[in-house]
Amino acid sequence: MIKQIGLFGFGCVAQGFYEGLLQNPQFGVSIKKICVKSDSKKRNAPQALFTTSDLDILEDPEIDVIIELIDDAAAALHIARYSLKNNIPVISANKKMIAENLAELVVLQQQYETPMLYEGAVAGSIPILQNLAQFFSHQKISLVRGILNGSTNYMLTKMKNQHISFAQALKEAQGLGFAETDPTLDVKGLDATYKSIILAFHAFGEIVSVNDVEIVGIDKLTSALLLQGRRTGKKIKLITEISKSTGILKITVKPELIGEQDSLYAIDYEYNAIEVSGNLSGTQTYVGKGAGSLPTGSAILNDLYLLLNNFQYSHQKQSALKKTA
Ligand code: HSE
Repeated sequence: MIKQIGLFGFGCVAQGFYEGLLQNPQFGVSIKKICVKSDSKKRNAPQALFTTSDLDILEDPEIDVIIELIDDAAAALHIARYSLKNNIPVISANKKMIAENLAELVVLQQQYETPMLYEGAVAGSIPILQNLAQFFSHQKISLVRGILNGSTNYMLTKMKNQHISFAQALKEAQGLGFAETDPTLDVKGLDATYKSIILAFHAFGEIVSVNDVEIVGIDKLTSALLLQGRRTGKKIKLITEISKSTGILKITVKPELIGEQDSLYAIDYEYNAIEVSGNLSGTQTYVGKGAGSLPTGSAILNDLYLLLNNFQYSHQKQSALKKTA
């Protein structure tokens, strides 16, 4: 029975989750401790909840779920490993940590029979991992395509609609809490790459290394592409494509010019969209806010709801991996 949360981090996403949890007392779950780097900041939660010692969470036997929402991938991995090895279900949104350690995290979940959920790591509020784990678990997927980064989509929309500069658009995306602490991860396409690796794992059951993804960020936008966009009325979007043909899985993340007939054309500002093509359902498109405090917090809240209802990723499509891990 999950009753008490140990929360790591109290940034933008954690605050959104906190707000969502306060709106849902029927969950019957409360936060016991929040571990932060500095306890001198004024925060929008009771001071008594905060600690700067991770042991106040990790060594508290009353904490029965750990939610880590910190930036530092190495520290996040340490927390995830510790939680799973101690049979404490864990929720994370650290895309870099998850994308780079998928195989180990699956093995730990199986070995310790303890679930780990991470919907908040991919496309903010869109429940795509849950859909891949349930609706698409018994279908063959041929293509996953979409816009997976809210900051750059916001920037591209503002640059097109209001003719503001790249630097100004980035400043706005940072001010709205969309961008990563290190915004080069957004503009260089790495953030979308980590998300695409996680998606590829859940959709196709395969692990792709960052080095095998063809990545072009929006920092590499050429004036020729911008001009062509203006002339043709097309929009530039940072498009992720994960496809499998003749047995080879391929991921690309790059800015592309798309026209009105493309289902991603209307996806503006911090919205994300993901098209999934399954052999039975055909293509479905999921749209929602891909960044921001409450939207991403809602994904964390839903992970908690899923844990309360004994949901876990089945890893059915990763059966080949299990045998070799
Ligand atoms: N920096 C990320 C984005 C946050 O802009 O999409 C949500 O993952």
